[in-house]
Amino acid sequence: MTLDKNRLIQSAKEAANVSYSPYSHFRVGAALLCRDDTIIKGTNVENRSYGLTICAERVSLFSAISQGKRDFTAIAVYSPDYENPLPPCGACRQVLSEFVKEDFLVIMAGKEKVEEKTIAELLPFDSLHDFFL
Ligand code: THU
Repeated sequence: MTLDKNRLIQSAKEAANVSYSPYSHFRVGAALLCRDDTIIKGTNVENRSYGLTICAERVSLFSAISQGKRDFTAIAVYSPDYENPLPPCGACRQVLSEFVKEDFLVIMAGKEKVEEKTIAELLPFDSLHDFFL
């Protein structure tokens, strides 16, 4: 496993280019690094019934799971419509935590700077993590 952060961020940027976001006009791309070195991209997909929208992070994760991946190292997130590093929403943190270990890295890329946090930092006191896993 090698973590090429620039490559992962580049993949997140590519994913943002195909965002389906006609309601918010807020494009987001995510790129999930699997332990076997493959990168699975996801973008946000909105719906005219707004609540059915799904974030880029979960799209990449569900796509990876559907391709038989189970082991993940890092995710990069980027929005060309936002200046700063974009942190995943609470729902995405919870859903990611189902499949990753505490040291899983979340790379949030902004226009000027990149912020990195572990999933444990973004989701402390993770309910029932020890109980089920
Ligand atoms: N969105 C993401 O895809 N990921 C985030 O981390 C934040 C929000 C999407 C959902 C919606 O399509 C749009 O951005 C505005 O909230």
